[in-house]
Amino acid sequence: MQPETILVTGGAGFIGSNFVLQWLASESSSIINLDKLTYAGNPANLSAVSHDRRYRFLQGDICDRELVAELLITHRPRAIIHFAAESHVDRSIHGPDDFIRTNVNGTFSLLEESRAYWSGLAKKERDSFRFLHVSTDEVYGSLGPDDPAFTERTQYAPNSPYSASKAASDHLVRAYFHTYGLRVLTTNCSNNYGPYQFPEKLVPLVILHAMSGKAIPVYGDGQNVRDWIYVADHCEAIRTVLARGRTGETYNIGGGNEMKNIEVVETICSTLDELRPNDPVVPHKVLIKFVPDRPGHDRRYAMSSAKMESDLGWKPRETFASGIRKTVQWYVDNQPWIENVTSGSYRQWMATQYSM
Ligand code: NAD
Ligand code: TYD
Repeated sequence: MQPETILVTGGAGFIGSNFVLQWLASESSSIINLDKLTYAGNPANLSAVSHDRRYRFLQGDICDRELVAELLITHRPRAIIHFAAESHVDRSIHGPDDFIRTNVNGTFSLLEESRAYWSGLAKKERDSFRFLHVSTDEVYGSLGPDDPAFTERTQYAPNSPYSASKAASDHLVRAYFHTYGLRVLTTNCSNNYGPYQFPEKLVPLVILHAMSGKAIPVYGDGQNVRDWIYVADHCEAIRTVLARGRTGETYNIGGGNEMKNIEVVETICSTLDELRPNDPVVPHKVLIKFVPDRPGHDRRYAMSSAKMESDLGWKPRETFASGIRKTVQWYVDNQPWIENVTSGSYRQWMATQYSM
């Protein structure tokens, strides 16, 4: 490994794999990816870099402290970018245990082992070390229609087992800065979409169902609002925070695209009408089916990225129109990837959640 290595956890998941690909395309230093490969982890996302000498993959659990300790001592990373998590709200409603294990206990284990490794570094390396924790806007809870967007000073009010577990991990990260001086940074980002997203989340699920003529499930009245960000913009924001963020600070990252779920679904359908006029059911929007709401469903999220813009000079590059077009095109062009991820455990999940 070259010096200046960084360690990424959860790099075989959706955002992590986009991050690894972007990192290797834009930076010169090397990267180690520690991922347990749960249902959401897919090494095929990284096949393009599997022969890159700067990339190394290690299958393992962030809760395995011995493994993490050895990895840190052996590879001496200058930074850890912590993506690994259970990430799907609906799954957290059906079975919260894994969320507490990985998101809370796993983050705690990683912090403890990072602290032990970091304490043993020479002063110069200790000062430049970074632990960047990747979190979500969902920790702030739900907004009313006229409330201002979440800022870094908004009080935490998580509503789902997923967001509560992420909030707990954010608090631990904060405590390691204040108590031990560990050089931490936290990013809280809004809803991502783009290539390699597992099709249990809204955007890829709608694309897949629409292409194959299956009902498109919209929860409740479809009026819930999310702020959508193209995944490459999120990855650039993380690289910016890593390079220039102030330790101990948190940074909110949003796409500046507040949209109702039904608008997102209709945009995907009309894009597919253009790109796939010969699909089994066209226009695709006739497949939309309103289904019972998610329990405790947050009504609205909105992120202010003002601090990212003023302090670090970051802004998203994509509008929703440009990002969603690229995304739909990617799924249309990557049928083998879709077939690869929609077998086995995926089918089981769809049967449990949607009975369809
Ligand atoms: P994902 O579910 O697609 O990927 C998670 C990855 O973590 C998978 O590769 C999985 O195998 C790995 N993993 C899970 N448990 C592990 C463990 N115990 N040890 C090692 N690896 C483990 O998730 P994502 O959408 O890529 O999200 C990545 C991070 O970004 C998460 O921390 C999530 O909370 C956060 N985030 C996601 C979004 C979003 O819209 N997807 C928005 C804001 C923040
Ligand atoms: P999701 O992609 O699960 O992200 P999150 O819950 O983290 O915001 O869901 C995005 C929105 O879409 C959310 O309001 C729930 C809604 N949704 C549906 O209407 N139907 C679905 O099948 C899914 C998965 C989500």
